[in-house]
Amino acid sequence: MPTTANPKDRLIFALDVPDKNEAQRLVKLLHTSVGCFKVGLELFVREGPDILKLIKDHSSAEIFLDLKLHDIPATVRGALRSAATLGVKYITLHATEGEAILETAKEVEGLEVLAVTVLTSMGETQLHDLGFAQNLKVSDVVLDRALRARQSGCAGIICSGEEITQVKQKCGEEFKVVVPGIRPSWSQVVADDQNRIATPAKAIAAGADLIVVGRPIRDSADPLEAARKIVVEIEESINP
Ligand code: C5P
Repeated sequence: MPTTANPKDRLIFALDVPDKNEAQRLVKLLHTSVGCFKVGLELFVREGPDILKLIKDHSSAEIFLDLKLHDIPATVRGALRSAATLGVKYITLHATEGEAILETAKEVEGLEVLAVTVLTSMGETQLHDLGFAQNLKVSDVVLDRALRARQSGCAGIICSGEEITQVKQKCGEEFKVVVPGIRPSWSQVVADDQNRIATPAKAIAAGADLIVVGRPIRDSADPLEAARKIVVEIEESINP
């Protein structure tokens, strides 16, 4: 079963904002209601490692550096080593290229490496358009990559709500499953690019260790209330 007891610790907020001012506002507002802040490319490319210090100055929540590394093994290894000095708990790399890159996860300490299986913005149609065999389902690809990630020493994977149960069955309860593409029933995201979505309750009930929520909180009229509602939904899903 999932690793942390406190419902709020299962919620990762995606700090998908353009600069440190906006990030600081949201960290101050949400730091007692979420367990982790996820820093992605938009913010990290603009602000660099200083943004991580800013988050730590205003919060004791964990930090997830979502850089989705995708390069030759030597470069990914170097990036992981650099990231290991930054005091973040999680980092992501792409599972697309297989073991040579996934195995770099074993070489860093103090950092949980999560492998991105298939982006939640991708559905079957997009996969088939890219040349994947027509009889292949997204879940087949996710499961294959999840198993490779586990065997290579990654701490867990990123997948959608649709694959959680199968991944847990194949990879074991200890292998962390982190799930973005979360859409509470009450949320409305304009021009949504997510494809394989789940509600917080469904994802937690299926066995997600952690859920990643961005726009449903960020774009809400009341982000704090939105985060709190999601934590209640997590709690109710743990103790129905
Ligand atoms: O705004 P929304 O809730 O869709 O945010 C989802 C977050 O999760 C984004 O920051 C995105 O980069 C990230 N993510 C994802 N799908 C993956 C991996 C990460 O949507 N497979």
